[in-house]
Amino acid sequence: MSEITASETAELKGLVEKHIFRYGTSFAPYLGVRAEGSYVYDEDGRAILDFCSGQMCATLGHNHPAIREAIEDSCRDVLHLFSGVMSPPVARLAGELAAVLPDNLTRMMFLSTGGESNEAALRIAKTATGGFEVLSLAGSWHGQTGGAQAVTMNGGRRGHGPSTPGVSQIPNPNCYRCPIRHCRDACDMTCLEVGFGLYDAQSGGAPAAVIAEPIQSSGGVIVPPDGYIARLKQLAGERGMLLILDEAQTGLGRTGRTFAYEHDDAPPDVLSLSKTLGNGIPLSATITSDEIEQACVDKDFLFYTSHLSDPLPAAVGVAVMRILREEDLASRAAELGAHFMAGLRDLQQRYESIGDVRGRGLLIGMEFVKDRESREPDRELAARIQRRALELGLVLHTVRADFQSSMRFAPPLTATVAEIDSGLEILDTAIRDGLDG
Ligand SMILES: Cc1ncc(COP(=O)(O)O)c(C=O)c1O
Repeated sequence: MSEITASETAELKGLVEKHIFRYGTSFAPYLGVRAEGSYVYDEDGRAILDFCSGQMCATLGHNHPAIREAIEDSCRDVLHLFSGVMSPPVARLAGELAAVLPDNLTRMMFLSTGGESNEAALRIAKTATGGFEVLSLAGSWHGQTGGAQAVTMNGGRRGHGPSTPGVSQIPNPNCYRCPIRHCRDACDMTCLEVGFGLYDAQSGGAPAAVIAEPIQSSGGVIVPPDGYIARLKQLAGERGMLLILDEAQTGLGRTGRTFAYEHDDAPPDVLSLSKTLGNGIPLSATITSDEIEQACVDKDFLFYTSHLSDPLPAAVGVAVMRILREEDLASRAAELGAHFMAGLRDLQQRYESIGDVRGRGLLIGMEFVKDRESREPDRELAARIQRRALELGLVLHTVRADFQSSMRFAPPLTATVAEIDSGLEILDTAIRDGLDG
């Protein structure tokens, strides 16, 4: 285990304070020195339960032995190649994904981040359709590179000039805080019809795509009603738009199915995978049909990065797919998620300040309010609970969307029942202490 002395710690924290650019989040008060399974260990060797799987990536837990082995094998075999050279890990990963995807999702490219896979998805949709108009949902997060940022409606839009033309926002299916003030607690999808109606009136006649997360995560864990993704696909198709689903967080087991689109039986035209595909190693994929790929190729499609088709992350992806299959982690997420959800609902019974608990599998959100009738967000309480939970050894995230006060939970799918229960216990104490001020 990595040892770190008190003087080294002080020096390293000093370097962070002096040199690291403050890119939009506050830095944790501890250094992450080691991580394994559901825990991160700080400079004092203290174990902190990580209910966010790092940056919502490590669904197999931190430093899973299969990932370590894939990296070690790559160090022996090959790490990086010219992007025109294919390698065994890239071919194997394509085979692993094709085996769990439907017939219309056969052609894929492997990139590094979620922002990049969404850039590629958007470019594919624009090239294939010849249009450039893109719809994106309120509260969405698709990444911070130019095109991905243009369709991200959840902060980070100010202070850096115009974003990509052609993007319009439609309301999201947030039935706890209905954006069109129409529903309460059950979304009837009027928001979707209204959104498309607004788009029809605004369109210059160049439709390209709709991009959406099957469950918005950074937007507050917004679970759409059954049939929503299917209806989204239908409305997009009627207008000649491709449906891009961004399964950065929902993909590969977290919601209790391999892909979240399966809940609605509505596979997209273009699927974007990232975060969970590499379990913490930068790996993403953009996947579409033979026909759409051919349409792009016919139009001189180009998308190229230094790490496109790199063998090291692909080898990690193969290991992730193998563990997902062998350990049936999607079913485990469904079971463990039901157990966790029951515990959170129990807390909701006991604390008036918990306005809502929602989620699917092991992607769950909890919203703190000043009172249940007005639903006024209680951001200060959520922040106090988050701080206290960390003092007690549990990492939680509050979401960015500035109109609410949600916390989200996305523990590794490999967590034990005892770890989930331990997190619930800490959360209970943190809420009690947070309410005491
Ligand atoms: C749904 C979704 N898409 C895309 C991204 C962007 O991924 P990356 O940060 O790897 O570029 C994120 C990141 O949080 C995300 O949650």
